[in-house]
Amino acid sequence: MTTAITKVVFPVAGLGTRFLPATKAIPKEMLPVADQPLIQYAVQEAQQAGITEFIFVTNPTNRAILESHFGANDALESMLLERGKTAELKIVAETTLPEGQVKFCYQDEPLGLGHAVWCAREFVSDGSFAVVLPDDLIMAKTGCLKQMVDVYARFGGNVVAVEEVPRDLTSRYGILDVDQDDGEIVSAKGLVEKPAPEDAPSTLSIIGRYILDGRVFGHLDKKVTGAGGEIQLTDAISATIGEVPFHGLRFDGTRFDCGSMNGFVEANVAFGLERSHHESDLRSYLKSHL
Ligand code: G1P
Repeated sequence: MTTAITKVVFPVAGLGTRFLPATKAIPKEMLPVADQPLIQYAVQEAQQAGITEFIFVTNPTNRAILESHFGANDALESMLLERGKTAELKIVAETTLPEGQVKFCYQDEPLGLGHAVWCAREFVSDGSFAVVLPDDLIMAKTGCLKQMVDVYARFGGNVVAVEEVPRDLTSRYGILDVDQDDGEIVSAKGLVEKPAPEDAPSTLSIIGRYILDGRVFGHLDKKVTGAGGEIQLTDAISATIGEVPFHGLRFDGTRFDCGSMNGFVEANVAFGLERSHHESDLRSYLKSHL
């Protein structure tokens, strides 16, 4: 028996130092890809998966910006209404989340992803919940998290999104020690955070989508540090293997690593082409530019 996944945690307390100076005054998750900030894609993907409670692990400064992005803006809405800008009005209204659906908590020290999720424990520890890292932007017909919710409904336990990476990049990811693999769904007997290529048990990496059983907090509570001296979410998931089912899903879609400059620019091209009202202009510009 599984329960519905209704809560998502967004670990968004990072300083975004790789994107300075863009992130000097603006949180990284507010950087736009085409016409939307990264965090909005993440919220939409969660909504498509049936989620109704959005928990942001952040800091007071970023909270203010997130609150104004996802809160109502009466002045803007009346101005758009007055000017007859109905399409824009609809966009603004769709961005607004009902107040009761939005929660904030703070991560005061950068102690790792596991620690960030642990900071949200009071909101989620009573059941299963999702974690979405907005840096990993996924273009997919059916949202990646919805695909994962369907796998969770079959197996329960912990589910992560996975994709193959070149072996020389394993040290950037959580890597699965594969047990069974049907080409789409994988079960693993272990997980290793950021192994060196020669130590990696496979090349199947976790990307930033998780459905987690509340039991991960049993491990996160211990505040054990792992790779890079940080409290790793991967280690907490690994510690529950045997206690709860664990599956990786090779999701259907394309993932853009918006934590890197190249991935961010690629995402802007791909989403720009998809979301542009003048796609052919953009396409021919890109062709002529190249
Ligand atoms: C985190 C996780 C890692 C995962 C990655 C996906 O690493 O710790 O297991 O593979 O996200 O993007 P980070 O990118 O925060 O270093």
